[in-house]
Amino acid sequence: MGTKTILVTGGAGYIGSHTVLQLLQEGFSVVVVDNLDNSSEVAVRRVEELAGDAGKNLVFHQADLRDREALNKIFASTRFDAVIHFAGLKAVGESVQKPLSYYDNNLIGTITLLEVMAAHGCKSLVFSSSATVYGWPIQVPCTEEFPLIAANPYGRTKLIIEDICRDIRKASSDWKIMLLRYFNPIGAHPSGHIGEDPHGIPNNLMPYIQQVAVGRRPSLTVFGTDYNTNDGTGVRDYIHVVDLADGHIAALQKLFQDPNIGCEVYNLGTGKGTSVLEMVAAFEKAYGKKIPLVMAARRSGDAEIVYASTMKAERELNWRAKYGIDEMCRDQWNWARKNPWGYGSPESES
Ligand code: NAD
Ligand code: WQD
Repeated sequence: MGTKTILVTGGAGYIGSHTVLQLLQEGFSVVVVDNLDNSSEVAVRRVEELAGDAGKNLVFHQADLRDREALNKIFASTRFDAVIHFAGLKAVGESVQKPLSYYDNNLIGTITLLEVMAAHGCKSLVFSSSATVYGWPIQVPCTEEFPLIAANPYGRTKLIIEDICRDIRKASSDWKIMLLRYFNPIGAHPSGHIGEDPHGIPNNLMPYIQQVAVGRRPSLTVFGTDYNTNDGTGVRDYIHVVDLADGHIAALQKLFQDPNIGCEVYNLGTGKGTSVLEMVAAFEKAYGKKIPLVMAARRSGDAEIVYASTMKAERELNWRAKYGIDEMCRDQWNWARKNPWGYGSPESES
């Protein structure tokens, strides 16, 4: 494919850092733009180290996507073959409390990025969408054609950005866009050197379990035990973050090789559902001890069962997830035990 240069927004974050590592290992040059709002530059340095020789092909800019001048400078200094756009705020509950922050960051950030891309003649984009756009799905597995809904401001930003992408492609056929709808990414790089390190109290299941395991939280609260599932707890499609990162390489390859790409959407999941209690049991197997549980009421807005149809990605991207929940939990625990405070220290805890 020759050396191609990819701009990765949000490349210091959880999914971004794993994807940047894989891009470097595949021979791409990578420029990361991240404001470090929910991440640490340490992650970028670790990716550089893990990549070995290829680490020299990584450049990091601490900048906010809404800073048009900064973005213009970056695009003026480098010609990008494509952009992978991860940067955004992603906490559902926080988005309900602070909708304007979410609309400002996610929408203005994306619009600024798209305008600067167009101005510099870079019109190939891979965007991080989410299974959240399926809301409480009418049935499972979710296929890409399902009706889309926004159950909260965060989800609305994803839906609006998907629509913006469809509109700009309609307006100008030189855009090539991949909308990737991730299900529930968990796990970490098998080295244990990079992983998820959310700021503040984790919202998602796996980071919470991890913080209980390392003694930062006393117990896991299980939200809802009366769902219509095998054990009464909610079912999700957990996907190893390394598989997810691979999905981005597959999407990029399709973008570069297929002249007929317009604006395409793909689910990235495993196609398998796992309940909260099944996930806790799998983690306990890797961890070797019990996770204390507190059974509680349903969390408002949560769906019962969500998992992906993976057919379209398998067929058109020639990609499928390789890892199961045992490997996800093994790698999650390996990262946690090596980095109980993530990239920080007990003093940096908020
Ligand atoms: P993350 O918070 O670890 O990474 C996002 C990164 O973007 C962070 O490093 C943050 O500092 C940066 N950022 C945020 N706003 C920015 C701005 N205005 N300018 C520059 N940088 C900015 O999150 P993640 O889990 O890696 O998620 C990456 C993307 O995938 C997000 O768009 C998220 O909505 C989407 N997504 C995540 C999940 C999930 O469960 N993790 C699921 C579906 C979709
Ligand atoms: C998974 C299951 C909870 C925490 C969210 C976003 C979605 C996407 C992925 C970004 C559910 C249960 C959780 C806890 C629990 N992100 N749970 N105790 O809700 O499927 O999806 O992250 O796009 O948009 O909504 O993931 O990890 O929060 O929850 O019992 O402390 O774990 O009720 O059944 P979710 P999650």
